[in-house]
Amino acid sequence: MNILIVGSGGREHALAWKISRSPLLTRLVCAPGNPGMAALAETRAVGATDVDGLLALSVEIKADLVVIGPETAIEAGVADRLAEAGIPCFGPNRKAGQLESSKAFAKTFAARHGLPSGRFAVFETVGPAELYLKSLQAPFVIKADGLAAGKGVVIAPDRAVAVAAIGDILGGRFGSAGARVVIEEFLEGEIASQFAFCDGRTHLLFGGAQDHKRAYDNDEGPNTGGMGAYAPAPILSPTMVAQADRTLISPTFSGIAAEGAPYRGVLFCEMMVTAEGPKLVEFNVRFGDPECQVLMLRLESDLVPYLLAVATGGLAALPPPIWRDAAAICVVLAAEGYPGTPTTGVEITGLDADFGADVVVFHASTTRRDDGALISSGGRVLNVCALAPTLAEARGRAYAAIDRIEFPGGFCRRDIGARAMAV
Ligand code: GLY
Repeated sequence: MNILIVGSGGREHALAWKISRSPLLTRLVCAPGNPGMAALAETRAVGATDVDGLLALSVEIKADLVVIGPETAIEAGVADRLAEAGIPCFGPNRKAGQLESSKAFAKTFAARHGLPSGRFAVFETVGPAELYLKSLQAPFVIKADGLAAGKGVVIAPDRAVAVAAIGDILGGRFGSAGARVVIEEFLEGEIASQFAFCDGRTHLLFGGAQDHKRAYDNDEGPNTGGMGAYAPAPILSPTMVAQADRTLISPTFSGIAAEGAPYRGVLFCEMMVTAEGPKLVEFNVRFGDPECQVLMLRLESDLVPYLLAVATGGLAALPPPIWRDAAAICVVLAAEGYPGTPTTGVEITGLDADFGADVVVFHASTTRRDDGALISSGGRVLNVCALAPTLAEARGRAYAAIDRIEFPGGFCRRDIGARAMAV
């Protein structure tokens, strides 16, 4: 099969790494890809939101399957355009993609379909938004309506911080993504990421993980796109996952189909495991990043038949995926300044070291300088991942590898997976 992967981050590198191991693969092309993906596949300078360019590339390489990584490509309508051309695509269309591209749509969808979630309201102006805070208890959850790379969410410990966040969002910090603000009740519990594939009719649970959203150790500092992940997550017991499927995931797939947008892709259900069971925090319409990295390390089954079945409607014929009986961890190495303005252009060395068995470094924001040196090009720069019989061993391997990588100014959290080890 000829497969095109859309995207250039650590998630897409992990997908390329897994797909490149498939016996079904003939040719793998990544658009635009990154220097890490270039070691596994052809890379082509077509952006993830360049709908015309991606269609032309798919036709040129006679793609049997296009796999969309980032939400920006979904919002741009890549899946819609490929569907018009009859090219199988793993990734939902724009209409279904609203589950992520509009927090207001997602929360009203949840309310329409009776999904357990917190109270919320949506505002376009500051005054009524500030007034609504009076009906909630601190902390407050303040979100920009649109896509903001994981940075449009503020958990405000008090009213003053909430008011500042509302002003920030409605004041234009996120451009049109902040035209509306969503204010939500804070849910108490432990947050977890559950994934499910759907081909428009049938769905299949596809693993779970836990992310670390805050920038610094002990869950301190600002929210980020995710600083590290591990799997399996003890909180996602079979009972909990079955309940999440019954109350959140199944009704979401049936609900979005009933609203005229059958879902074809992976649904990332970010949920709070509360005393009353799992409640929706938010939906994402693509793999989590860095959750995808640990899922790909643990996945024993060939990924390609599942991706193709999602795109073409054959999921009912496939068994549940098989996972390795091992723990996987991903530690994000971020650039100085992240999640604010990261320092870019910093040279990275040491990646050619032998990090030992089952250690993989995925590139998240890297590029090559004219002289060939590898340099940073964004906030989350590298994903240092390891698989081992226990989480403690996986952590040891990942942090040992990190300590051998030279990336001046770079930082990582040192407590990834610590919560699961305390269980
Ligand atoms: N790791 C969270 C996300 O991908 O949105």
